[in-house]
Amino acid sequence: MMSHVWRPLFVAAGVVVVILVLRVILVPNDFGIHERGYMYGWHRKGNEADWKNISVKYRTTEYCRQCHRDKYEDIRNSPHGSIMCENCHGPAMNHPQDPRSLEINRSRALCVRCHFKLPYSASRRGSIKGINPATHHPEVECVLCHYPHNPLRAPVKKEANQ
Ligand code: HEC
Ligand code: HEC
Ligand code: HEC
Ligand code: HEC
Repeated sequence: MMSHVWRPLFVAAGVVVVILVLRVILVPNDFGIHERGYMYGWHRKGNEADWKNISVKYRTTEYCRQCHRDKYEDIRNSPHGSIMCENCHGPAMNHPQDPRSLEINRSRALCVRCHFKLPYSASRRGSIKGINPATHHPEVECVLCHYPHNPLRAPVKKEANQ
């Protein structure tokens, strides 16, 4: 006769077998230890190719310099020198193949994002010179008075009759 001690043990062994079978079914073949050992092999080998195929969205300011050297030189030594072009113009993934892929945002909202005066004296954000958009020349675009690629400079006047 079977002992009451053995019966639960068979149940436990059954559970282990089920787990092993499920593992074979569920874990993809290319998962596991590769030539670099367990520590670096804890992923799907095919995943590496997936990641390589993702195209880079942001190209950085050095990329813009090749074709927009004037803007690059303007901004470089200005108070905005540390801001990436793509921070204001969006990701350059399809630019310049699709020249409209980058935005020119002339809204006050673009600037107020960083320049709304905040009382966070302990943070870097709080140390950026701030204005109150409700009282600082409201109703007009900031770029009418501040050239964005060097905000200490007045913007180049556009053709008056255009
Ligand atoms: C390989 C050359 C090249 C590179 C690199 C390049 N651009 Fe351009 N860009 C162009 C050309 C060409 C145009 C279209 C000019 C025109 O239509 O007058 C353009 C237009 C633009 C415009 C105006 C778009 C519009 O709607 O009128 C912006 C803004 C711009 N580029 C920003 C950038 C930024 C930011 C970068 C870097 C992330 C960059 N560009 C990198 C060639 C380039
Ligand atoms: C602080 C935000 C900001 C940053 C940073 C910035 N831009 Fe702009 N950019 C603007 C705005 C706003 C305009 C529209 C200005 C206007 O029409 O008066 C503009 C216009 C442009 C234009 C349109 C053509 C022209 O002559 O006005 C180009 C090209 C351009 N930027 C390229 C760049 C490049 C390249 C960089 C980085 C070296 C850069 N921008 C960094 C905000 C920015
Ligand atoms: C990503 C954040 C960011 C954005 C967006 C931005 N700025 Fe700035 N701006 C800065 C930083 C950082 C400085 C330099 C530090 C400082 O002035 O305290 C600066 C400096 C300035 C200054 C010089 C202040 C002074 O007297 O020294 C002006 C003016 C200015 N920005 C206007 C603008 C305008 C107009 C726009 C929109 C076209 C804009 N900024 C968009 C971050 C930003
Ligand atoms: C009608 C022109 C005009 C417009 C529009 C304008 N500004 Fe100014 N801004 C000035 C002048 C002039 C000064 C310098 C005198 C002063 O501090 O008021 C200045 C100063 C600043 C400063 C420096 C403040 C300081 O503490 O030294 C910042 C930052 C600034 N502006 C951001 C902006 C932003 C962001 C916008 C849009 C929301 C904007 N400005 C719209 C004319 C303008």
